[in-house]
Amino acid sequence: MTAIGIESLSFATSRYFLDLDLLAQARGVETSKFSQGIGQRLMAVAPPDEDIVSLAASSAKKAIENCDDPQNIAMVLMATESGVDQSKACGIWVHHLLNLPSQCRVVELKQACYSGCAALQLALSYLSRHQNKKVLLIASDIARYGLHTAGEPTQGCAAASMILSCQPRLVAIEPEYGAYTSHVMDFWRPNYRDEAIVDGKYSTKVYLEALAESWKAYQAASGRSFTDHARFCYHIPFTRMAQKAHERLAKICGIQAISTEQIADSLLYSQQLGNSYTASLFVGLASLLENSTCDLTGQRIGFFSYGSGCVAEFFSGVVLPGYQQFLHTTHHQQLLKSRQPLSVDQYEEFYKFRLPQDGSRYMVERYRTGDFRLAGIDGHERLYESVI
Ligand code: HMG
Repeated sequence: MTAIGIESLSFATSRYFLDLDLLAQARGVETSKFSQGIGQRLMAVAPPDEDIVSLAASSAKKAIENCDDPQNIAMVLMATESGVDQSKACGIWVHHLLNLPSQCRVVELKQACYSGCAALQLALSYLSRHQNKKVLLIASDIARYGLHTAGEPTQGCAAASMILSCQPRLVAIEPEYGAYTSHVMDFWRPNYRDEAIVDGKYSTKVYLEALAESWKAYQAASGRSFTDHARFCYHIPFTRMAQKAHERLAKICGIQAISTEQIADSLLYSQQLGNSYTASLFVGLASLLENSTCDLTGQRIGFFSYGSGCVAEFFSGVVLPGYQQFLHTTHHQQLLKSRQPLSVDQYEEFYKFRLPQDGSRYMVERYRTGDFRLAGIDGHERLYESVI
């Protein structure tokens, strides 16, 4: 059978971050609550001229860089739950900024954090019938909760982009999967709100139930057991959640002792970014591949995607020989290292920024961004520009 999977993978995030020790002090909680209880250290905070489109374009540009024939990109699937337009697919701006082929389908997908996984599975089905084509999958989100809420330290932002094809270089995705859907109100964002409404503790319970159900379906479809997987990548709303998920899965499978090695490398980037919703699973994969000190060639990874509301899926992939030479490790680590720290006041200022909603022209002050930025808005139209 032809291998189908991930040919290249890159992520982008804001050039600004808030140290969660500062947030803890400002909110009057012990710093260990965020660093250990939640498992987060730094939170990526987007400036006014960085949004899901600019992040998406920066990450996609890098992902395309080591793709042999970008003219074969026949579909752009952009998953997000922080969309900037009710009608136009955000991916069209990215398609335009990157000058992608006009003979291309571009659509946006939504189901909370799960839609990146949905896009992946749809792309794989498409590629099985169109083996010389490529799909650009982008998952881009800015996670926002209210100031002073329990969800506040779990905010963050990132975009992850992947070229999917029948010439995978990083990971071949296996066909077996287990999906699970249940109508629950654990986290949602009505159209008139900028911040999510969340029943936080309930959401963590539903996440774990959805893991158990999707694993059961995956196991029935694949016949594989826990020990058939060398590493695991979970949806990472905060890193403690992924650790708890791993402990729960081991318990379900009757595994007595788990090794931290099975998930530790996948959590390193998210610890410094916060929740990036649709992107977090793929940021976790980049983190695993780029930080692992041992050769993962031939190893099977178990993936768990969860999107509130809720839809979840467990699936797997196998790491391909020579994957190391196609990673963007230096670029990503440099990106994380060169970010600018914010004070709590500066974070709140970024948080409170809103574009005008009456269609009037407004040009956004220039901050540090990736390769693209939101220049402003005019006549209700968002204006983007390249900054290189
Ligand atoms: P909270 O009020 O901080 O909860 O809310 P807590 O008081 O129970 O504290 C959390 C942990 O810190 C606890 O550990 C405490 O014991 C510990 P646990 O019992 O969980 O093991 N703790 C301390 N540890 C060390 N030193 C201390 C200390 N004090 C307390 N001094 C909550 C936590 C996650 C609910 C909140 O952050 C929240 O609402 N987050 C947003 C929702 C969320 O991320 N849900 C995750 C599952 S749903 C999901 O993943 C989907 C999502 O990504 C969206 C989508 O799909 O679109 C969110």
